[in-house]
Amino acid sequence: MRTLTLDCKNIYSGNLILVNSEHPVMNQHINYTASLVSVNTKHPGILLDYIAAKELSQITNALDIYNNIIPVSGYRTRKEQKQIYADSVKENGTVFTKKYVALPDRSEHQTGLAIDLAENNDDIDFIRPHFPYAGICMQFRKTAIHYGFIERYPKGKESITGIAHEPWHFRYVGFPHSEIMQMKDLTLEEYIKFIKSFPYAGKHLKFFNYDNNYEIYYVNISQLSQNPVVLPADTTYQISGNNMDGFIITLRK
Ligand code: DAL
Ligand code: ZN
Repeated sequence: MRTLTLDCKNIYSGNLILVNSEHPVMNQHINYTASLVSVNTKHPGILLDYIAAKELSQITNALDIYNNIIPVSGYRTRKEQKQIYADSVKENGTVFTKKYVALPDRSEHQTGLAIDLAENNDDIDFIRPHFPYAGICMQFRKTAIHYGFIERYPKGKESITGIAHEPWHFRYVGFPHSEIMQMKDLTLEEYIKFIKSFPYAGKHLKFFNYDNNYEIYYVNISQLSQNPVVLPADTTYQISGNNMDGFIITLRK
C-alpha cells in the first residue's frame, strides 16, 4: 500500500480539468505553458501539452495522415483568445461569436489540451475548419478515442457545453476516460459529474480493456485532511484535478 498526499492547489491541473463558461482557467495557480511543445515540425507554431502532442502524433503515424489533416489552432494565450473573440465579433457578429468562440479564460485552448483540426484544403476557416464525418476525418475521430481524445462539442449537447457543434475541436482527456465518455455518450461536463458518484470511500468505477483493469474514483478536497488516499502497491496511477472541487484518480493494474 502507498499513501498519496494530494495538495488542494493541484485541482486546477491535469487531463480532466473542466474549462467552460462557469469554470475558467486558473492562470494564477497554473503555468499552462510549462508543458507545451510543437504538434509537429511542419507546424512549429502550433503548441500542445506534450502528452497530448505525443498521443496526437501516434494517431497521425498509425493512420499515416500527416499530410491529410492539418492542425489549425492549439494552445492560445489569454491575449490571443481575447483577440480572436474581438475579431470574430467584428467579422461575424456577437450571436455567431458566442456560439463558436469562448470568452478569454473560458477557453480550453488556454490549457494546451485542445486542438482544432482541418481536412487539408486550400481554404481553411480558422474559426470553423472543415472536418467532416466521412473519410480520413472520420477515421481520425474513431481512432482518437483510443488515444485519449474526445470530440468536445458534439451535436445535441449544446445546452450542456454552452458551445455550438464543433466537429473540428478535439480535447485530450486521456485513456480510458475518452473511451468511457464515448461509450456512455457523455460530454466532459457530464463525465465530471458522473465520476462524482464514485467517491474514494464508496464504489469505484471499473473499466476493463484488453490486459488492463482500470479503477476510477473521485476525491473531494474537503476529504483530504481526514482521508489520506491509499493506493494498492501493484498499480500505476494518474491524478487529475477537475478544476472545480476535487481530484479524479485513475488506477491501472
Ligand atoms: N471554439 C472553442 C469553444 C474556443 O474558443 O475555445
Ligand atoms: Zn477549438
